Amino acid sequence: MSLPALKTTNLCRYFQLGPQEIQAVKNVNFEIAKGEFAGIVGASGSGKSTLLNLLAGLDTATSGDIEVNGTAIGSLTRKQLSAYRATQIGMIFQTFNLLPHRTALENVEMALYFADLNKSDRRSKATLALEQLGLKDRLNHRPNSLSGGEQQRVAVARALVKKPEIIFADEPTGNLDKENAHQITELLAELNRSGLTIVLVTHDEQLVEKYTHNAFRMDFGSLQPYSGGTAK
Ligand SMILES: Nc1ncnc2c1ncn2[C@@H]1O[C@H](COP(=O)(O)OP(=O)(O)OP(=O)(O)O)[C@@H](O)[C@H]1O
Ligand SMILES: [Mg+2]
Repeated sequence: MSLPALKTTNLCRYFQLGPQEIQAVKNVNFEIAKGEFAGIVGASGSGKSTLLNLLAGLDTATSGDIEVNGTAIGSLTRKQLSAYRATQIGMIFQTFNLLPHRTALENVEMALYFADLNKSDRRSKATLALEQLGLKDRLNHRPNSLSGGEQQRVAVARALVKKPEIIFADEPTGNLDKENAHQITELLAELNRSGLTIVLVTHDEQLVEKYTHNAFRMDFGSLQPYSGGTAK
């Protein structure tokens, strides 16, 4: 059997807030196979973003391990971790996280700063990624002159331009209307069919049921297989 794309072992992330310990991610053990479209649902505050940020190397676990394509993320040096984030994974955030004073094209180009490319190659790759997302006529727009759906497509282009192996999407459709939400999810499904591993976090159980192969429910920091319907 091939290596899983992703595997966690007893993963925990606790936050200390004064005397209070918040167990945002509690002993999470799960695996995602290469090429899978995985979904994670769960109530607000259940720990979904905390888990995704750990997987994406944006935060450090309190204890436990994460392996991505056989590499233990926790054992990487800071430099290796930056390289991991810059080359192997793409992250799509609920709030897009685009730089407001940069154009669509510049936002996407920035994802390539760590790649060994000169400026004109970065520009042509970023242009192509935006064109593929239907934003050919929006290259020089700043985020505040783009619609929500367009901003999210810029964010998707930024995640894709480096040709990652895994895409982590944290509520990518949470701020979009139904039509744009559908378009973005269809796009993720298409990317998955072309071989990318996708981990989608969403409140929307219909999306999980329609699109994902393998789904989980997060509940007070614990992760269980999704068994359909609402837990409570
Ligand atoms: N930096 C932090 N310091 C302290 N507590 C935190 C921190 N980040 C998250 N938490 C807490 O951890 C818990 C999980 O938060 P998280 O953002 O992962 O939830 P979520 O499932 O993504 O929620 P939502 O669906 O609303 O986005 C919450 O109780 C939150 O208040
Ligand atoms: Mg969240």
